[in-house]
Amino acid sequence: CMVRHYKFNVVLKNTTKLCSSKPIVTVNGRFPGPTLVAREDDTILVKVVNHVKYNLSIHWHGIRQIRTGWADGPAYITQCPIQPGQSYVYNFTVTGQRGTLWWHAHILWLRATVHGAIVILPKRGVPYPFPKPHKEEIIVLSEWWKSDVEAVINEALKSGLAPNVSDAHTINGHPGPISTCPSQKGYTLPVKSGKTYMLRIINAALNEELFFKIAGHQLTVVEIDATYVKPFKTETIVIAPGQTANVLLTATRGAGKYLVAASPFMDAPIAVDNVTATATLHYSGSLSSAATTLTSTPPKNATVVATNFTNSLRSLNSKQYPANVPLKIDHSLLFTVGLGVNPCPTCVNGSRVVASVNNVTFVMPKTALLQAHYFNIGGVFTADFPGNPPVPFNYTSTNQTNFQTTTGTRLYRLAYNSTVQLVLQDTGLITPENHPLHLHGFNFFEVGRGLGNFNPNKDPKKFNLVDPVERNTVGVPSGGWTAIRFRADNPGVWFMHCHLEVHTTWGLKMAFVVDNGKGPNESIIPPPSDLPKC
Ligand code: C2O
Repeated sequence: CMVRHYKFNVVLKNTTKLCSSKPIVTVNGRFPGPTLVAREDDTILVKVVNHVKYNLSIHWHGIRQIRTGWADGPAYITQCPIQPGQSYVYNFTVTGQRGTLWWHAHILWLRATVHGAIVILPKRGVPYPFPKPHKEEIIVLSEWWKSDVEAVINEALKSGLAPNVSDAHTINGHPGPISTCPSQKGYTLPVKSGKTYMLRIINAALNEELFFKIAGHQLTVVEIDATYVKPFKTETIVIAPGQTANVLLTATRGAGKYLVAASPFMDAPIAVDNVTATATLHYSGSLSSAATTLTSTPPKNATVVATNFTNSLRSLNSKQYPANVPLKIDHSLLFTVGLGVNPCPTCVNGSRVVASVNNVTFVMPKTALLQAHYFNIGGVFTADFPGNPPVPFNYTSTNQTNFQTTTGTRLYRLAYNSTVQLVLQDTGLITPENHPLHLHGFNFFEVGRGLGNFNPNKDPKKFNLVDPVERNTVGVPSGGWTAIRFRADNPGVWFMHCHLEVHTTWGLKMAFVVDNGKGPNESIIPPPSDLPKC
């Protein structure tokens, strides 16, 4: 295995999109940022140097960080931020993983422009479990605001209202021509007739689940969140912030220019950025100009399209890549996830929108939780996070009176190697809404999902314990639930949160603390000497 070195200079870069310019925070002046390339079991060292005025940290989304929580990146969870003028070397090994993941800033809303792809190739000599593509392309989907993104969220926090939605979506950094800026060029994906390509698709948007489609071509899904799946064909990909999908695209047409489109999926009455991002699939030999074969993505409330896509996902579960679903469960948990309202005398309505897990709105600590755990520093967190909602009620009904949540820095403690079943139940206190929940430090199996309230007597009988999809970010359906299972085989402190950044900011987050095991390879490694201080 190799050791791979990268240097991330975090710098401001003046950037023009939607016919207007602003300075953005970038890695090495690029948007999207540079791609990390490694092979399974390689070690990656990334030296991050902070040249901007913001505190900073970077997360390697989906990298399991086995025993190396110090390199995970969420600010105040596993590390104090890298202060302006300081640097930190993230040092981790990609143990037993291959596929597409991504990295992003994990503090404030900086990840809007500070993100990029991670490509993990299989070990040398190990083929993909599908025909080798002619070429591979990275497709990063994102969102763009004309105004300063930090100002957008700070204004919302002050007013207690929802932040402004973005002004456009982007495909590899480009929105494509839109009515308010028709001159702007979109991304071009060049192909040769008859060849097969693998697209490594990443949803790096802050707040929007997306549909993705290419005119006149079907896509074969082969991998989700860096785990192989049973291949299936689809016209439309559904991808939530945090998720990744590898798809095969065969250039079955002789020639031409085909539209590539990305637009929001949101089946709740919530404002979204309705601008479709476009790019062009361009057959070699065709004259260069805009796409001539068009398509449209499903309407934003096309729940059926999203459900069909999700229901098609199955682990490959081959001899080489078995799905090791935990069958015996040590912790059976039910977490409600949703929005609420807390009093705020200085806010516009005298109240602010908040979000919670089991009615706890998570309060960020001043010291990193992993440091507090490792060095036994008291008073930073309590390990009393409730394993069940305070009072069971009709979660998905909007006819509730008590909107208010409690606050705290409460963690849920797991013994090393214990097994967990976690049902994530959306609530409808204000409105039901989709919540892409991301768990750091683990992959999990999504064993079941449904609409309405989870029924503990009936629903588990229908769980798929054979070949459920394995992933790191799961979309809790609007007004419904999903059940996941994982083994707590990674000691440390592991963040879990909604990957809609606005919901994280509002408090839809919590953390698990997993104790060390007894064996020599079951403890957190000691912290590196350059670990940032708070
Ligand atoms: Cu992709 Cu905690 O994040």
